[in-house]
Amino acid sequence: MLNIALPKGRLGEKVYGMFAAAGFECPSILEENRRLVFENESVGVRYFWVKPSDVAVYVERGAADAGVAGKDILLEHGPDVYELLDLKTGRCRMAVAAPASFRDDPRRKLRVATKFDRIAGEYYASLGRDIDVIHLNGSIELAPLLGLSDVIVDIVETGTTLRENGLAVIAEILPISARFIVNKASYEFSRGQIDALCRGLRTQTEGRE
Ligand code: PRP
Repeated sequence: MLNIALPKGRLGEKVYGMFAAAGFECPSILEENRRLVFENESVGVRYFWVKPSDVAVYVERGAADAGVAGKDILLEHGPDVYELLDLKTGRCRMAVAAPASFRDDPRRKLRVATKFDRIAGEYYASLGRDIDVIHLNGSIELAPLLGLSDVIVDIVETGTTLRENGLAVIAEILPISARFIVNKASYEFSRGQIDALCRGLRTQTEGRE
């Protein structure tokens, strides 16, 4: 059995469709229920739904042989896994956003609210700008509105959340997409099956820019 951790939610459903088209279908996963584990013995696959930010933890420790994680999570946590393929879906960007009134004052440390301390830290270090990272776990957009931070570093997908909260992108940090990741030991033991899956996924990404 190949154990695959999928990110719970919209991205996971989309990505499951790619795995199914690659020959690793598991129809029970589409049933509306609260189960977290689904398997299809005939093709030798077991899927489980995991909080998106936890997928890499399962894969790194071998509880899952493979999984799908956003490049943002991989850069932020640096798990020791193989990143075999850019799935070219789940696309968004990591960006700095601020209220229209924001003016940077280089004499002061810039207060940056984010879930992504490392990405924010490395970005500002590359600019030689001193910052004070304020770690939050969600609703990051609130921070500048309440004066908790000057700017935020966060994921922007459609831009709706920023717009509806009076914020705008002031700098792009990097593009993000979903990646197929594999446990290092699993890749040694199950290379044939994993390579077949990876080939099936790759054909679906071809032609996607
Ligand atoms: C993410 C991100 C933004 C939003 C961006 O939040 O942190 O808030 O999506 O999407 P948009 O550009 O399409 O509006 P998420 O839904 O993961 O919730 P969070 O507040 O817990 O971070």
